[in-house]
Amino acid sequence: MTAPTISTEGLRELLERGAPVTVLDVRPPAERAEWSIPGSVHADAYEALRRGDPTVLADFHPTNGDRVVTVCAAGKTSMLAAECLRARGVDAVSLEGGMRAWSLAWNTAEVPCPGSSARIVQLRRTGKGCLSYLIGSNGDAAVIDASLDPHVYQRVADTNGWHIRTVLETHVHADHLSRARALAVETGARLCLPTTARVSFQYAPLKDGDTLRVGSAGLRVLNTPGHTPESACYLLNERALFTGDTLFLAAVGRPDLEATTDESRHRAHVLHASLQRLVALPPETVVLPTHTSAPVAFDGQPISATLREVHERTSLLRENEETFVSQILTRLPPTPPNHHRIVALNEAGTLPDDPTELEAGANRCAVA
Ligand SMILES: [Fe+2]
Repeated sequence: MTAPTISTEGLRELLERGAPVTVLDVRPPAERAEWSIPGSVHADAYEALRRGDPTVLADFHPTNGDRVVTVCAAGKTSMLAAECLRARGVDAVSLEGGMRAWSLAWNTAEVPCPGSSARIVQLRRTGKGCLSYLIGSNGDAAVIDASLDPHVYQRVADTNGWHIRTVLETHVHADHLSRARALAVETGARLCLPTTARVSFQYAPLKDGDTLRVGSAGLRVLNTPGHTPESACYLLNERALFTGDTLFLAAVGRPDLEATTDESRHRAHVLHASLQRLVALPPETVVLPTHTSAPVAFDGQPISATLREVHERTSLLRENEETFVSQILTRLPPTPPNHHRIVALNEAGTLPDDPTELEAGANRCAVA
C-alpha cells in the first residue's frame, strides 16, 4: 500500500486558509529542534517506523479536524507513517519531499507603514526563515532580497495591481540562493546592488545616499558594511528600514562569513560603526530584516519591530566598540551549511535546478 501525498504548495494553501489539518512531524527530536512547520505536532516515531514496529503511532489522534499530513526530512519515513495511520482508518497523507521541499513554502504579511505613500508586503519563506519584501506605490513595485521563485513575487504584485520595476539586494547572500537576478530577467526589472566587484553579472550599482523611486515613494541607500563588505540598508520614505543581515530584531549580523580571522575582526569594527549609524535614525523607524531564526507562522503578522524595540532587546548595540568586537567574535554560531557554494553561485548569478539541495538547514546569519 502507498499512501497519497500532498505537495508543499497544497499544504501551504491549507495552512494559509486556516483549514483544519493536523501536521504530524515524525523526525528525530534533534532534527525537529532545528526547524519545524508552525503548529505541527511531534511524535518521536522515526526509529520505530524504520524498523516496522506494529504499535507505532497507536496512541496518535488528530488534534485539528480529521485530516493528517505526516512529515519527515525527505518524504520517505512520513510515507510509512501515513500508511500506518491509514491502516487504522485515519485520513493521512504524506508531505511530498518532506522538510527539504517545505523549505520553499511561503506566506505573506502586510507591514503597516502609517503616513507613507507606499505599501509593504513581507514575503516569508516559512520553511527557511528568509524574509523578502515587495514595496508598492502608484502601480510600481520593488522587490528586496528575493529568496522565492520569481512567480511568487509576480503573483503577489499582480494581486495588488503593481508592476515590478526594480529588484534590489542588500548584499551577496550566504545562506540562501538569490532569486533576484532570475526575477529581474523574468520581469524586465532593473537589478540593483550595492556597488561591489564580487559579482560577475551586470547590475545597476548603488552608492551611499542614492535614492531610488518606487512610484511616489523614495528608497534611500545607506551603506552599512560589516556583515559583508558591500552590505547596504534601504530606508523607505524615512520610515521603514530594510536591514538585510546587518540588523535583526534582537541580534546583529555576523561578520565572519567568507573571511579570515583577521578580516572578521576588521569587519566587526566596521559593523559597529554601521550599526551606530542605524541606531541614530528615529526610534520609530520600522526595522525589516532579511532573516528570522524561527519558523514563520501563517498568521499574517509581520516580523518587524521599531528601532527603539530592537535597541532595547539587543545588548550588543549598546556596547562600546572594543566590547562589541570581542563579544561578537566569541559568540559566532556555526557557519551555514554549504555557504561557500551558495556564495559562489550568488556571485555568479546562477541558480541550480533544485536549490533546496544546497539550502537545507536553519538560517545562521545572526549573532545575538
Ligand atoms: Fe547574509
